[in-house]
Amino acid sequence: GSTLQAAASESGRYFGTAIAGHKLSDSQYTTIANREFNMVTAENEMKLDATEPNQNQFNFSAGDQIVSWARSNGKQVRGHTLAWHSQQPGWMQNMSGSALRNAMLNHVTQVATHYRGQIHSWDVVNEAFADGSSGARRDSNLQRTGNDWIEAAFRAARAADPNAKLCYNDYNTDNWSHAKTQAVYNMVRDFKARGVPIDCVGFQAHFNSGNPVPNNYHETLGNFAALGVDVQITELDIAGSGTSQAEQYRGIVQACLAVARCTGISVWGVRDSDSWRAGDTPLLFDGNGNKKAAYHYTLDALNAG
Ligand code: G3I
Repeated sequence: GSTLQAAASESGRYFGTAIAGHKLSDSQYTTIANREFNMVTAENEMKLDATEPNQNQFNFSAGDQIVSWARSNGKQVRGHTLAWHSQQPGWMQNMSGSALRNAMLNHVTQVATHYRGQIHSWDVVNEAFADGSSGARRDSNLQRTGNDWIEAAFRAARAADPNAKLCYNDYNTDNWSHAKTQAVYNMVRDFKARGVPIDCVGFQAHFNSGNPVPNNYHETLGNFAALGVDVQITELDIAGSGTSQAEQYRGIVQACLAVARCTGISVWGVRDSDSWRAGDTPLLFDGNGNKKAAYHYTLDALNAG
């Protein structure tokens, strides 16, 4: 294949990107996005603050714009995200107890219902585990409603959109030996054992020198897949430049291709200048839309697979 999506398709996988709705008027941006990618994640437009700015008053206009662009260009959509401690609307931030639990479940139900039938996979719950060595849940207002909040969110999402794949999504879960990775693994194993509806695990894959691409990445992906879930790399970006950055992208692609249930890879933006951390130049195209070494290594690795 001569594009990322074509090369990934040869092994039945997708290659996606985050899309920012306000950039859909930038023709360089949309030309690259349309040519290279066949899965789209709204970078911010489907989050809690965007979709429910006032309690029980939903605003889907920005999310709908991205879904519309994706559908009219033949792309699938990853939903991001239904329940998260961050980017909550102001009214939710100081809620607690059963009022918050019910508000969260209503949010999951209403948003998943609005997009029913249009979402390939939902990041139902995002970033619910703590960093560091504790292996604990992250403390948050949602966690303080009870440890079962995550499974409650998954059950509500399944009821609202039975055909969407339901994913748990997190970062710093790439290295198999890390406590956070083990903690997420144990949750997924428990969910599968008890019949909680979970279909997939997303690995955000935001890498830099403090969080390098681990040598055991294929082992992590393979161990999760062996639980009976699909795995996806959902927000890939790697700080750096040149051959070093390119080799790390190649390693990620090879790790995914080595695992049958690794069904796709998405990068978290199109050009370096579109990145949430643009100073790290972490993406596949430079600020002028030119293909970087990281692009060529990624494409070659997809084609070799
Ligand atoms: O909404 C305001 C807008 O009204 C204002 O005009 C504008 C001015 O700067 O700021 C807007 O909010 C910003 C928003 O992006 C939309 O551009 C926020 O300040 C900014 O914090 C927010 O950053 C996003 C970040 O999530 C928030 O947590 C990034 O774009 C987005 O790339 C990033 O994505 C996350 C994933 O969802 C989850 N995993 C990690 C990843 C990177 O942090």
